[in-house]
Amino acid sequence: MSDKPTILEAESLYHVYESKAEDGNVVALRGIHVNVKEGEAVAVVGPSGSGKSTLLKCLGGLMKPSAGKVSLDSKNMTRLTGLELVELRQNTVSFIFQEGNLLPHLNALDNVAQPLRHQKVAPKEAKRRALELMTELGIEHRAKGLPSMLSGGEQQRVAIARALITNPRLILADEPTGALDPITSREVLKLFKDLHDNQNVAFLLVTHSKEVAAFADRSLELRDGRFVAEHGTDLDIENLSAGRELIVDEMGTVTLPPDILTQMGGPGRYSVGELESGKLSLVGERISAIGELILASSCPACKHDYEDSDDQLCPSCGSSRPMVEA
Ligand SMILES: Nc1ncnc2c1ncn2[C@@H]1O[C@H](COP(=O)(O)OP(=O)(O)O)[C@@H](O)[C@H]1O
Ligand SMILES: [Mg+2]
Repeated sequence: MSDKPTILEAESLYHVYESKAEDGNVVALRGIHVNVKEGEAVAVVGPSGSGKSTLLKCLGGLMKPSAGKVSLDSKNMTRLTGLELVELRQNTVSFIFQEGNLLPHLNALDNVAQPLRHQKVAPKEAKRRALELMTELGIEHRAKGLPSMLSGGEQQRVAIARALITNPRLILADEPTGALDPITSREVLKLFKDLHDNQNVAFLLVTHSKEVAAFADRSLELRDGRFVAEHGTDLDIENLSAGRELIVDEMGTVTLPPDILTQMGGPGRYSVGELESGKLSLVGERISAIGELILASSCPACKHDYEDSDDQLCPSCGSSRPMVEA
């Protein structure tokens, strides 16, 4: 995989949402590095609010990051003029969001054909290719329907046809199956697999879904604007502690996911041992001012009751499960 050319690369990506409100600015991304090879499928997993959508928008050139560099197809996007950026995006990358991908005033066929119109393809030819793709996706009978007349699953298939019509080499997808029923999700995933296996399309997918994450070649765990760990193909989204490799960045920063923090006894001061042996071990004591720490029994955001589970993400709202004093 590593000798393949890179389709997407980000270095030291930061994003701050400026706000005049009392709670001030939000640092949504803090020093992201990522490298996606041609044809590679990478998942981004993490609790809600960890910066997944912000990251995707910055990587796809929909939003300008506060700092850092993004290269798409080896072209540094920050250096391009507006027009060059539009052209590079159109020829390389497509987006699929959870919902709201379609233009409400255009029928399904025109929605699918529209990206080609931007590429100056003649209307008749654009419609012909759109209908062909819709037939492949089993939605040609909905060609004349306005988005509001289609079911959620049909809308998402139209959105996927719209994303595929330009033959993108990279698909950026933000919870693409998040609003779909299990059967439609499976169909969408089958389509992604086909593009991945047979057409060498690369993916960066944000997901909470077990199946989508399992489709990816590897997964990156995002917490609070940083990639804290990487997982292989065998990722079990309900048990992120298995097979996890922690990421130490060039600043030396490492973030301990809550399950590791709980196991080692919680926040505190630790002395470093065993470095010579090629291991990093932290030996020491917790700060005594803090009492015994355990995972919270209910979600602070939506009040979900965790009961006996050791979930670290809330199954109903996706929030991070905090630690509290016992
Ligand atoms: N337009 C915005 N203005 C201010 N803060 C925002 C905006 N969009 C997102 N945020 C904040 O940035 C952080 C990351 O958000 P987001 O990228 O949407 O996370 P995720 O997709 O993982 O849920 C959150 O704290 C969120 O509240
Ligand atoms: Mg999001």
